[in-house]
Amino acid sequence: MMRSIVLLFPALCCTCRADLASSFEDILLDAINPVEDDEVSREIAKELKMGAPEMIAHYGYKVENHTAKTEDGFLLGLQRIPESTKGAKASEKYPVLLQHGVLCCSGNFIDNGNDSLGFFLADKGYDVWLGNLRANRYSKKHMTLKEEDDAFWDFSIDEHVTYDLPAMIDYIRSTTKKDKILLVAHSMGTTISFSMLASQPEMNKKIKGFLALAPVGSVKYITSSAIYAAKYSAVIKSAAEFANVKQFATHSPFVENFLRHFCPGSPGVCTGFVNLYSGYDSHLINQTRYPIYLSDCTGGTSVKVMNHLGQLITNGGLNKFDYGLTKNKEVYGQDFPPEYDVGKVTAPVILVHAANDALSDPLDVAILNAKLKTVIEKYLFPDYTGTHSAFFWLTNATERFFNKLLELLKKIEKNEIKKIIYILIKFLGKCNNYNGYI
Ligand SMILES: *[C@@H]1O[C@H](CO)[C@@H](O)[C@H](O)[C@H]1NC(C)=O
Ligand SMILES: *[C@@H]1O[C@H](CO)[C@@H](O)[C@H](O)[C@H]1NC(C)=O
Ligand SMILES: *[C@@H]1O[C@H](CO)[C@@H](O)[C@H](O)[C@H]1NC(C)=O
Ligand SMILES: *[C@@H]1O[C@H](CO)[C@@H](O)[C@H](O)[C@H]1NC(C)=O
Repeated sequence: MMRSIVLLFPALCCTCRADLASSFEDILLDAINPVEDDEVSREIAKELKMGAPEMIAHYGYKVENHTAKTEDGFLLGLQRIPESTKGAKASEKYPVLLQHGVLCCSGNFIDNGNDSLGFFLADKGYDVWLGNLRANRYSKKHMTLKEEDDAFWDFSIDEHVTYDLPAMIDYIRSTTKKDKILLVAHSMGTTISFSMLASQPEMNKKIKGFLALAPVGSVKYITSSAIYAAKYSAVIKSAAEFANVKQFATHSPFVENFLRHFCPGSPGVCTGFVNLYSGYDSHLINQTRYPIYLSDCTGGTSVKVMNHLGQLITNGGLNKFDYGLTKNKEVYGQDFPPEYDVGKVTAPVILVHAANDALSDPLDVAILNAKLKTVIEKYLFPDYTGTHSAFFWLTNATERFFNKLLELLKKIEKNEIKKIIYILIKFLGKCNNYNGYI
């Protein structure tokens, strides 16, 4: 087990050339772990080669590719599922943006076969948009910079907050000509969303509401292996600087191939990885699909983002990137990086979390809930074993979970009247926290 993990790490952390002779790879990987030649294995191999647009088409949905330009020149790739044959008429459609977390990509929402959240929402009549943060496999273009340039990789979570998410939301609003959209985010995607809503008041008016899945507002009580990543983030940073590496865990055909060979032969290793990342719930997840799930979480990001994440875990707050005393003064005009104050969020929020989630710990969610002033509901995933990835990688997901999510989305859509009551109650000073009691 240990040896296999040691082998898997370099595969995830290095970028290999796309044109690496695949026959050589196959021979090498076959020697380590031969792949069965049955129908399911062939299907997995086929799906692994597909990007998000191909996957969407493969499952019989219409797909559009879109590009949102950020103010600082990144070109972010979005996929849209504009309609489903089972869906409502176009005029009734509400745009919903599904936003992935750090290291992952839009594939998260469409990689669970026909039981994927993206397809489910399209079937229920939503205009589904899948976002991608800068520098992941779908957002590797920039107006002037190239991937080889150091400046391309010089971004932390703050750039996702300041530029990426607002650019995607504005793009969707202008393309669909809808005033407000629904925002659904997962994990660090929620951190980015809360930070954006806290620091850019006008963005609150552009969303109808925010459904936060496995919300991460602070990571004080985090129990996942991410802690170790944080502990070693300074080491990772120095090593990366020494080797002049700026990118982390980038998707490549080699990674796809590696996972395809590895997971079926050593299911324990891939289970181990999913578990380490998210908590223990392997009996709820279809292990045959692990190569695809894991491949979608090698979306790629910068070393600076990983470093920022490490700072958040170490400090337990939700602060901007910490450059150290001297440079902080220069960049922020103060010794310490400013904090994103989630108390300033004014859009309606629903928090959905799981008891056994290693990254979105119930204690952290409780802290977040206490700080937020516009929470309509805090919903705990009913199955105790639900974990961080239960929000998309789950067998029978529709039955177990998506129907409930739909109910919660509808609640957000109908929230206008409640908001007025809330303002009244606040005004009368009878209640300083909304928390869904009305
Ligand atoms: C979307 O982009 C993919 C490549 O990323 C391409 O294969 C596909 O044909 C495009 N689809 C449409 C509808 O343009
Ligand atoms: C997915 O497809 C299978 C096989 O066609 C079917 O039994 C199942 O009901 C489908 N699930 C959903 C959520 O559509
Ligand atoms: C697990 O995934 C494989 C590959 O997609 C599929 O053939 C199989 O039906 C799935 N099993 C369940 C229980 O969903
Ligand atoms: C999934 O749902 C089907 C049909 O409702 C059921 O037969 C099956 O046992 C369920 N699988 C799991 C793993 O719960």
